[in-house]
Amino acid sequence: TRRITVRDIALAKERGEKWPMLTAYDAMTASVFDEAGIPVLLVGDSAGNCHLGYDTTVPVTLDEMTMLSSAVVRGTSRALIVADLPFGTYQEGATQALRSATRLVKEAGVGAVKLEGGQRSHEQIRLLVEAGIPVMAHIGLTPQSVNAMGYRVQGRGEEAAARMLQDAKAVQDAGAFAVVLELVPAELAAEVTRSLQIPTVGIGAGPDTDAQVLVWTDMLGLTSGRVPKFVKKYADLREVMGSAAKSFAQDVVGGAFPAEEHSVH
Ligand code: KIV
Ligand code: NA
Repeated sequence: TRRITVRDIALAKERGEKWPMLTAYDAMTASVFDEAGIPVLLVGDSAGNCHLGYDTTVPVTLDEMTMLSSAVVRGTSRALIVADLPFGTYQEGATQALRSATRLVKEAGVGAVKLEGGQRSHEQIRLLVEAGIPVMAHIGLTPQSVNAMGYRVQGRGEEAAARMLQDAKAVQDAGAFAVVLELVPAELAAEVTRSLQIPTVGIGAGPDTDAQVLVWTDMLGLTSGRVPKFVKKYADLREVMGSAAKSFAQDVVGGAFPAEEHSVH
C-alpha cells in the first residue's frame, strides 16, 4: 500500500467525497488511526496543549514538532501526514518558512505542512509550494494568535465574512492544497467551500465543509475539563484509563497482582 497524496485529496473534492482528519502526536496513537483508515493525520501544534502540557500552542518549538512528526510518520504507512509549522517559525517571511518546512519534510518525513493565516501568509505558501512542499492553510480562528484575537468565533458580520472569503481565495491562489476553517459560522463555511476548488477542512465550521478535523484527545474524551461545543466525544478514554490505573493500584496494594499466570519460575 502507498501513502495518500495531495493528489488523492484533490480527486476527493472532484468526486464530492467527504473525508476525516484527526490529530496525532505519537507513533502508537497514529498507528491506531492509520489502521482505522483515517486518510490524513495532522501533527497539530495543539500538541502544545494536548500532549506537552503547555497552556497554548504558542510555546511549541520546531524541534518538538520535528520529534513528534517523526514518531507519527514511523507509526503509519498509509495516511498523509501533515505537520504544523509552530508559531515563530514562518512569520518572518517566505525563506524562514521554507527553512522550517524543509526540516519537517527532510528530518521527520511528513508529506505536507500546515501554517496559519490567509493573505498574510500568501508569500510563505507560494514559496513552499514552488519548492515542492504541499501546504494546508488555516484561517478563521488561528490559535497561534490567541494573544491578539482570543478564542472567538471568526467571520461574524458582513465585513469579516468578506475578509474570510478573500483569505480563502488568497491561500488557494498561493497554491495551498486545502484550507482549515476553524470556528466559523456554518453558513459562511458553506459559502467558502462552494467558492473554492480546493477542499475545506472544518473544525467548528458546520456540516458543509469538504472534510472534518477533530483533536484526537477531545474526540476520545481524554482531555481534562471542558471541551469546545463543536467537539463530539466518541469515547471516554479518561474514565477508561483512570479506572484501569485504579484497579492496577488496588491489585498491587492488595496482592492480587501479579497472580500465578503472570509469574515465571
Ligand atoms: O493544531 C491543531 O490541532 C489544528 C487543528 C485544530 C486544525 O490546527
Ligand atoms: Na494547529
